[in-house]
Amino acid sequence: MTAPKKLFIKTYGCQMNVYDSERMAEALALRGYEQTGEAAEADMILLNTCHIREKAAEKVYSELGRLKPLKAEKPDLKIGVAGCVAQAEGEEIVRRQPMVDLVVGPQSYHRLPEMDAALAEGHRALDTEFPAEDKFDELKRRPKAKRGPTAFLTVQEGCDKFCSFCVVPYTRGAEVSRPAERIQAEARDLVEAGVREITLLGQNVNAYHGHPGGLAGLIWALAGIDGLDRIRFTTSHPNDMDDALIAAHGDCGKLMPYLHLPVQAGSDRVLKAMNRKHTAEHYIRIIERLRAARPDLLLSSDFIVGFPGETEADFQATLDLVRTVGFGQSYSFKYSPRPGTPAAERDQVPEDEKADRLARLQALLTEQQAAAQRAMVGREVTVLFEKPGRMPGQIVGKSGHLHAVHAEGPADLIGQIAPVRIRDAAPNSLSGALI
Ligand code: 5AD
Ligand code: SF4
Repeated sequence: MTAPKKLFIKTYGCQMNVYDSERMAEALALRGYEQTGEAAEADMILLNTCHIREKAAEKVYSELGRLKPLKAEKPDLKIGVAGCVAQAEGEEIVRRQPMVDLVVGPQSYHRLPEMDAALAEGHRALDTEFPAEDKFDELKRRPKAKRGPTAFLTVQEGCDKFCSFCVVPYTRGAEVSRPAERIQAEARDLVEAGVREITLLGQNVNAYHGHPGGLAGLIWALAGIDGLDRIRFTTSHPNDMDDALIAAHGDCGKLMPYLHLPVQAGSDRVLKAMNRKHTAEHYIRIIERLRAARPDLLLSSDFIVGFPGETEADFQATLDLVRTVGFGQSYSFKYSPRPGTPAAERDQVPEDEKADRLARLQALLTEQQAAAQRAMVGREVTVLFEKPGRMPGQIVGKSGHLHAVHAEGPADLIGQIAPVRIRDAAPNSLSGALI
């Protein structure tokens, strides 16, 4: 028997890329590849790229530049670019970096085994089509090897919203939902492999329509699986937060009390220019309804500062919205013009202004996050333990609110859910004692 070939995947960007990287590794396992954590020993290196912000393509080209000596040393090494930069740049990648053997977009990676076969015959393999077939129908059932207690599961991809800053509708394509039965089967396999918590993924996950009851219907269907204890989902759009989904936050015990609901900005003028199709007031009303359903819901959001045309008064409206809502967790970014998107053509806010607004917003968000963490001290939470901690005798996991929690405890609790009394809050984690 020949020794297995080694595959090294470097994943950039969002959780959907993490999921895609796993599936790409599984597809290439059919061709005898085993994953390695060492690029130097790999027979194939795949960069699974992200195109959402800032000179993403340039970063990929410089990473490829760094791989050049490795390829020179080992001419049989195959180098591939996958993900959203592959989709956006296509053949341009091999024009600029001829040592690249393979370019595969996020909708075509089920074809990796054939592409690898083409490489073995000395051809280059490029595929950035939006294929007619659905990759999820083509991919083999996921292997049942033992896994950690948490997993991602992509249920929906693509986006039809066309926010004027965002490249996703162009790189991931139109909104597509996977059928609920397929997702249930995949979830059951994950649970059999040891998974207790599943995070449902989609660029616009609450636009999911592969179940007659929408995302809420899917969540209820998954909640019926014995051994699956926790369900989360990300990322959502405010306009798709329907009544059933809001109600599920109150009624479905397996749905965790954490919601990532990006608002992006607090000024109606900016929201309109962003093509978000909702107002700040509308967002606040949704939050009120969610909190009525689930009072301890922890909210998280994404923000963009320095969107073209954003004035100081607009920015103040974002700060006001943050103060009104109160977020437990947040991600904030300077607006970055993306090629081909409408906002990239408009008058830009100067860079130093963007940096200043970002610093002011982040100071407020960090304060809110710390307050949310401190508010947990003294409370009892349930923790799904995922791994040993850095200190001997310590184990680490996540609470329902997605806080990292450390506790002293036996390693055999890893993979289990146990109650913990929180004693202390550090900036990024909590610690406590098993009850
Ligand atoms: N510039 C800055 N941030 C962006 N995002 C998406 N596109 C851009 C852009 N052009 C942010 C949004 C989105 C998150 C995933 O990335 O806040 O919710
Ligand atoms: Fe991008 Fe999200 Fe807007 Fe879709 S809804 S265009 S993915 S920011």
